Amino acid sequence: MVVANAGISVGVDTAQRGDLDVMAQTFATNNLGMAATFHPFIDAMVRRGSGRLVGIGSVAGVRGLPGHGAYCASKAAVISYCESLRGELRGTGVQVVTICPGYVDTPLTRENRYAMPFLLPPQAFADRAFHAIEAGATYRVIPWQMGVVAKLLRILPDAWFDRLLAGRPRKHRAGQGRSSNP
Ligand SMILES: NC(=O)c1ccc[n+]([C@@H]2O[C@H](COP(=O)([O-])OP(=O)(O)OC[C@H]3O[C@@H](n4cnc5c(N)ncnc54)[C@H](OP(=O)(O)O)[C@@H]3O)[C@@H](O)[C@H]2O)c1
Repeated sequence: MVVANAGISVGVDTAQRGDLDVMAQTFATNNLGMAATFHPFIDAMVRRGSGRLVGIGSVAGVRGLPGHGAYCASKAAVISYCESLRGELRGTGVQVVTICPGYVDTPLTRENRYAMPFLLPPQAFADRAFHAIEAGATYRVIPWQMGVVAKLLRILPDAWFDRLLAGRPRKHRAGQGRSSNP
């Protein structure tokens, strides 16, 4: 089993030239990094007729959050990319699993300025992800409560979604916050 987990999450403002570099870095890490992680294993797994490729997406990939365009776009791309790969590898014995975390208490979320419902400790998230993978899931939102939220968000009309998010504090941009993400 190969888990492509590396990811960065930094707020962006497209009007700021420097944030285009942050966007490039986000896509390089979250998307190309994932493909580069899977790539060396695919032929060998197909020859062996078994294996699991696990991509870590995010609930943030379900809809675009203001101030978080690079990350949301990258995670939407993770979800689509893993789905493409799953279809490509169908019948080879190699499974592709997309795991979408809600909020997990890690350095990535610790400085967030907004409420994080159903926040999980890392070990609790890891246990649930392990069980989902073992159970043969192809796509799983963890925790399940965020899966319900994700489904609701997906069907919410744009005007309602925009109103819901209006005024919500935004993710720190590069150089903001204590840890000053890249
Ligand atoms: N925490 C959450 O609530 C949450 C929610 C949804 C999705 N996720 C996703 O879960 C995954 C793990 O996030 P996390 O919360 O554990 O974040 P984290 O604590 O910030 O850890 C990120 C990990 O990615 C690695 N990484 C970053 N850039 C890299 C690069 N260029 N090359 C190799 N490794 C790199 C880091 O390695 P170093 O320590 O060596 O830099 C670190 O191990 C990410 O894909 C994230 O988007 C997290």
